Amino acid sequence: PMKLAVLTSGGDSAGMNAVVRAVVKTAILKGCETYVVREGYEGLVRGNNTPSSDKNLGSPRHQAAAEGGFAQNLRFGDGELLKDGTGDHQGGRTLKGRYIVRVGWDDVRGWFAEGGTLIGTARSTTFRTPEGRLTAAHNMIKEGIDALCVCGGDGSLTGADVFRSEWPKLVEQLRAQGKITEEQTAKHAHLRIVGLVGSIDNDMSMTDLTIGAPTALHRICESIDNINSTAFSHSRAFVLEVMGRHCGWLALMAGVACGADFIFIPENPPEAGKWEDEMCNMIQSHRDVGKRKTIVIVAEGAHDASLQPIRAEYVKDVLSERLGLDTRVTTLGHTQRGGRPCAIDRILPTLQGIEAVEALLVATPESPSYMIGISENKITRVPLMEAVEMTRSVATAISEKDFKRAMSLRDPEFSE
Ligand code: F6P
Repeated sequence: PMKLAVLTSGGDSAGMNAVVRAVVKTAILKGCETYVVREGYEGLVRGNNTPSSDKNLGSPRHQAAAEGGFAQNLRFGDGELLKDGTGDHQGGRTLKGRYIVRVGWDDVRGWFAEGGTLIGTARSTTFRTPEGRLTAAHNMIKEGIDALCVCGGDGSLTGADVFRSEWPKLVEQLRAQGKITEEQTAKHAHLRIVGLVGSIDNDMSMTDLTIGAPTALHRICESIDNINSTAFSHSRAFVLEVMGRHCGWLALMAGVACGADFIFIPENPPEAGKWEDEMCNMIQSHRDVGKRKTIVIVAEGAHDASLQPIRAEYVKDVLSERLGLDTRVTTLGHTQRGGRPCAIDRILPTLQGIEAVEALLVATPESPSYMIGISENKITRVPLMEAVEMTRSVATAISEKDFKRAMSLRDPEFSE
């Protein structure tokens, strides 16, 4: 049977556990052996190398599992093993030193409703090095893994594609160093890989929605609702900074959902030195028609056309000084990222997890690695590298446009 491992990488997002659940359950139904890799790519690099690791497994059931003594439907008991094991970065009580762990149906029971990622995530620096990837390949081959499902943002998915394209070279290196047998070399000639996009930022091209973005948006809306009532009571202004890295989706959608008075996003940089008047005029006009509260949303990546970051504290000063508004700043921070997934962040990963396993099962050495997306309400398979490259070029196009605008503002002679 195909031995399939799933990992989560980069910043966590709600719905990552639902991905793991859907992938594990679908793969079991399709006759695969299923594994999770703890702590993202870092877990692949660390592998199962602690000499005493098997003895650390605790109960006889865990021991039997480590020895391959369980049939397809492994039963560790309600995911208890993984929950214990991911309690800390040392591997908790039962999983110390083991990062590639065989899992069964019951391990992922109920995971659709859990926030964050129970198998852990990391921003691995070692996996970014060729040596790190060689060790990762070795660890995978030792465990017999031949298919990998990665859930993460564009950096994590780029890592997946690099890993796959290098794979034949890595296998050859391991063979030449005598680290793997001829049999293993032949069996692991190719790596099957698939990506799912887990990110609260909704910043990936070729998919309409990333896993975790709807929940983060929902969290922001709840926070703004809370702020609204206290803002109304005191007739105050609030400047809210929201996450999203270089993408303004969360800020823009939250503004629409909560009736914000003014929104700053990186995709639409206002003219330096002019936006203050524009914002104040707009807000004053809202006040003039009787609005008691003011909400301004600033995306964390927002900047003006001359590329100066727009800071919430500065916006607050403008509102207080020019309009005399009693203004507070609230940075929502990681409350946006954590917590239980909303319904969409259970449905989307479930449908995409099924598609991911199906894509892995039909993958050939010639086919590209796929990213599972959603487009016009249909689950899609798109070439992973195309999506990553398009994401990069959109980001570059935006910054180039800003750059040219900024330059022509500074220097009227500047031409493209
Ligand atoms: O990409 C997800 C995200 O939450 C961004 O919105 C934010 O810029 C960043 O990660 C914060 O990262 P960290 O996990 O380092 O706090």
